[in-house]
Amino acid sequence: MCGIVGYIGQLDAKEILLKGLEKLEYRGYDSAGIAVTTNDGIQVFKEVGRIANLRQVVDASVETTAGIGHTRWATHGVPNYSNAHPHQSASGRFTLVHNGVIENYHLLQEELLQGVEMKSDTDTEVIVQLVEHFSNEGLETEEAFRKTLSVVKGSYALGLLDAEQPEVIFVAKNKSPLLVGVGDTFNVIASDAMAMLQVTDQYVELHDKEIVLVTSDSIQIKTLDGTTVERAPYTAELDMSDIEKGTYPHYMLKEMDEQPTVIRKIISAYTEDGELTIDPSIAQALSDADRLYIIAAGTSYHAGLVGKQYFEKIAKIPVEVHISSEFGYNMPLLSEKPLFIFISQSGETADSRQVLVKIKEMGHPSLTITNVPGSTLSREADHTLLLHAGPEIAVASTKAYVAQVAVLAITAYLEAKAKGLAVDFDLKAELAVAANAIQSVIDEKDAIKNVTDTALATTRNAFFIGRGIDYCVSMEGALKLKEISYIQAEGFAGGELKHGTIALIEDGTPVFALVSQKSVSLNIRGNVKEVVARGANPIILSMEGMEEAGDALVLPAVHELLTPLVTVVPLQLISYYAALYRGCDVDQPRNLAKSVTVE
Ligand code: G6P
Repeated sequence: MCGIVGYIGQLDAKEILLKGLEKLEYRGYDSAGIAVTTNDGIQVFKEVGRIANLRQVVDASVETTAGIGHTRWATHGVPNYSNAHPHQSASGRFTLVHNGVIENYHLLQEELLQGVEMKSDTDTEVIVQLVEHFSNEGLETEEAFRKTLSVVKGSYALGLLDAEQPEVIFVAKNKSPLLVGVGDTFNVIASDAMAMLQVTDQYVELHDKEIVLVTSDSIQIKTLDGTTVERAPYTAELDMSDIEKGTYPHYMLKEMDEQPTVIRKIISAYTEDGELTIDPSIAQALSDADRLYIIAAGTSYHAGLVGKQYFEKIAKIPVEVHISSEFGYNMPLLSEKPLFIFISQSGETADSRQVLVKIKEMGHPSLTITNVPGSTLSREADHTLLLHAGPEIAVASTKAYVAQVAVLAITAYLEAKAKGLAVDFDLKAELAVAANAIQSVIDEKDAIKNVTDTALATTRNAFFIGRGIDYCVSMEGALKLKEISYIQAEGFAGGELKHGTIALIEDGTPVFALVSQKSVSLNIRGNVKEVVARGANPIILSMEGMEEAGDALVLPAVHELLTPLVTVVPLQLISYYAALYRGCDVDQPRNLAKSVTVE
């Protein structure tokens, strides 16, 4: 949530900052700003809305070779000009960008900043005013910054400019992600390497509670107590083409189209000597556990629900799936030997991280399944399994979901084999079949668009129903539709509708029904009849072998445990076309952000 960048070197800093922010828009996009050092001091440009709006107000004639930038997802204060970052101290000497949340900002304001007139409603402004406060007490900037960090409580990634020391960007990090990028004649900072890949692929990881002084030719990392830290850079293995849209109108469409390739990449990444395999230490951790606790948010939570089916049905291990924001504050009774599995596309979700911190304190083992190597949840867990989905930029998650489901299937399958359980199918071959099936669905875009245009053009709401594993996918289908088309949508267990929610069915209410599980196909068709009798417009998506006349789409058959990989795809496309039809911003839906680094 919120993205920050900084550049200090010889080139035109404005353009590098703006381009960097464009790559970070997935982290928030309600307002944006940059601050640059010039011969006449620091100049700030800010604007409400996207980076494109900010570009319009940045004075192209300003000459600058250093600056910081920010794209915002509002937490404290509405998205307007004065709440947009960068924020400045009362005298204008200090300028700051911040990603995170300062929990005690009110208290600090009351205790230390009496008499300072605040220009915004943000928690961030308190930090920059405190730096000035301590500087006014006679401290050098680095010391004033350090003292500020010793009193603030919460999460932060910070970039600070001092008009009197324009050759330095002061940087600090705690809980929010931040990297320093290394160049020949310049250095940069960024929330995500993606932002500064335009100038460097060399990055230094920062740890919590570190302060960094970045100049054009040096990077000094120190702990809060002043001890110098040496850390070598690593090469960010990102390809520029992975983070560009190419000829696609939207990242979401590109990412949905990549799904068959993602499954094939996963098969290859998890194959050794022709056989599926995972790190033996992970297999051991699974074998040692008496119960798995899957912790995740949003789409990753929905993948976790599918994962539960896999671990219980294939590997015979009991599993609980929990929403991360609930788990940490309302922990259930745990088993004797739990293993925690964190599923997170970004690996940065603060709700999940707070659980990881707590369970680590309790001494429990952990595994993170993520798309981002080196992400916080990956670094801090005992083990990591990677999704190999490539960067996912659209806010609505698509290819990461299928990757999560595939990796969970592989993990459960290998665990079953490790336990010597009879497994009567060849997962590697079945995943390859699923990849082809996804491709066939993607090739049917026109048919899916037609279904969408008729069913969703004017509706206020929509329901998604399924039973068993189809119910898990129904919830994900409903989430996709809500996220990008703003149609109120709910995913329900087919049999549960009649216990209340059926009251909402009116003439023409679209009800999407998934029929991919033989054992419950008659039951779910019965539930469809119940809603049709009350006026609903049924859109049935069935799997080959279970189809009936009148079904809207018949999907290619795959192994019954792998159906989520295929049934989710038309639901993603339906949401995409519904959003297009309604003129919504597909890649950057209102109020959302891709990487949610606040609790
Ligand atoms: C945000 C995104 C969702 C995502 C969720 C969890 O809310 O908008 O698309 O599913 O975070 O993110 P994670 O990176 O942990 O999978």
